[in-house]
Amino acid sequence: MRGIHHWPRLLLRAINRYRSIFQVFILITAGLSYCLLLGSYALSRQHELAKPSSVNITRSNMQHRYVTQPNQRASKETHTTKAVQLSPYIKMTPSIIVEPEDDGIDLEELEKELEQRRQKVWDVCVAHGLNKEGEPNAWEFFIDSTHGLVWCNIFKAASSAWLYNFNLLGGYKEQYLRRSKKPPLVLARSHFPRPSVKQLQEALPESLSFLIVREPFERLLSAYRNKIEGLPHRFYRKMGREIIAKYRKQNLSHEMPKMNPTTSGPTFSEFVNYIIDTAQYSKNQKFDEHWAPFHSFCTPCHVNFTVIAKLETLTRDQEYIIRRAGLENILMLSRHKDRPKMVLNKARDGRNTNDLIKKYYSQLTEQQLNRLYNIYGIDFEMFGYNITKYYSLVKKIL
Ligand SMILES: *[C@@H]1O[C@H](CO)[C@@H](O)[C@H](O)[C@H]1NC(C)=O
Ligand SMILES: *[C@@H]1O[C@H](CO)[C@@H](O)[C@H](O)[C@H]1NC(C)=O
Ligand SMILES: *[C@@H]1O[C@H](CO)[C@@H](O)[C@H](O)[C@H]1NC(C)=O
Ligand SMILES: *[C@@H]1O[C@H](CO)[C@@H](O)[C@H](O)[C@H]1NC(C)=O
Repeated sequence: MRGIHHWPRLLLRAINRYRSIFQVFILITAGLSYCLLLGSYALSRQHELAKPSSVNITRSNMQHRYVTQPNQRASKETHTTKAVQLSPYIKMTPSIIVEPEDDGIDLEELEKELEQRRQKVWDVCVAHGLNKEGEPNAWEFFIDSTHGLVWCNIFKAASSAWLYNFNLLGGYKEQYLRRSKKPPLVLARSHFPRPSVKQLQEALPESLSFLIVREPFERLLSAYRNKIEGLPHRFYRKMGREIIAKYRKQNLSHEMPKMNPTTSGPTFSEFVNYIIDTAQYSKNQKFDEHWAPFHSFCTPCHVNFTVIAKLETLTRDQEYIIRRAGLENILMLSRHKDRPKMVLNKARDGRNTNDLIKKYYSQLTEQQLNRLYNIYGIDFEMFGYNITKYYSLVKKIL
């Protein structure tokens, strides 16, 4: 017990005796630590300062360019005036959180291509006089003025993915969207009601506007397989029966033993005849939204879209849209596991698009193809698609 009581006093006494040695030890230790600290600080500063100049076109440069370059570009442009200007929200975009997987986009190249797409659309508008009369088909647009985004929704072209995005922008939580039984379109429209022409025209200069197109005949086939073949949808069942009643030749029914008109829908050829006649005889009647030509549906001759995205380059194009609108915090792809999947070049049954195209378009005659081209040719021209391959598929009539 005694020893324990006395040890502080013993320690003090020892320190007193060896005070000078003790002091020297402390001094040396403190000095060394200070030097070490100073050194490592200097090193780290040097590292930081060196970074921006030594790293060429990195992601951090890139984010800067995503925000600023379109703006500079817009001021130089004379022919695409309004729509190219950036929304105030874009200018305010804080530093962008960069995700590692989206490396490898050459931004300059991409913007050049997007500019060419815009130019091409406008050239075709002028060539066909489509810019002269008419007005935007505002009905089909979504305007999110909070985020400065305007979208013309083309069905069968990444439409579900972007309805999902708009529902996120509208403030729905993912858990809700996953569980909700309401159709995504209905949910989206409850936040973004159909605008008037005036509302659209007022929103455009403030917004990034875009549409997503795809190869017109692929979309037509996709719409057919989705809505008409086999009549999977109640809404289209009546239409399907009418098409059969009108276009099915009784003589041919023995050649199609499986075609039972009550369960099966029209053939692709019958469907195409229906479309051709609709275009020819009912000029005023609107096409169904699933196969209306893009140029009449989204009226790109009356709306200078900031971005003309294509399904064929969708991943790249929509990342550009999301970043340029500064919405990566809400929409960045990797965060949303439950978003509707975009399956390119594969139909629902897993078949390759090219095989399907061959299978269905070889049922058409050259005359049918010519007539379809009369309807969708402008879309082919405007959006840079080529119809040539279809002529090698169809039945030639001599
Ligand atoms: C980036 O690299 C290119 C060639 O690779 C060079 O011409 C350019 O000056 C570099 N830029 C910077 C900022 O280092
Ligand atoms: C779209 O751009 C063209 C070409 O620059 C221009 O003539 C036209 O007025 C613009 N249209 C709209 C609706 O802004
Ligand atoms: C049915 O076939 C006969 C002869 O094969 C032909 O004369 C007739 O026009 C055909 N009817 C229809 C509706 O195609
Ligand atoms: C379409 O492609 C073919 C060759 O595959 C080419 O000869 C033709 O000029 C192209 N048409 C257009 C409008 O680009």
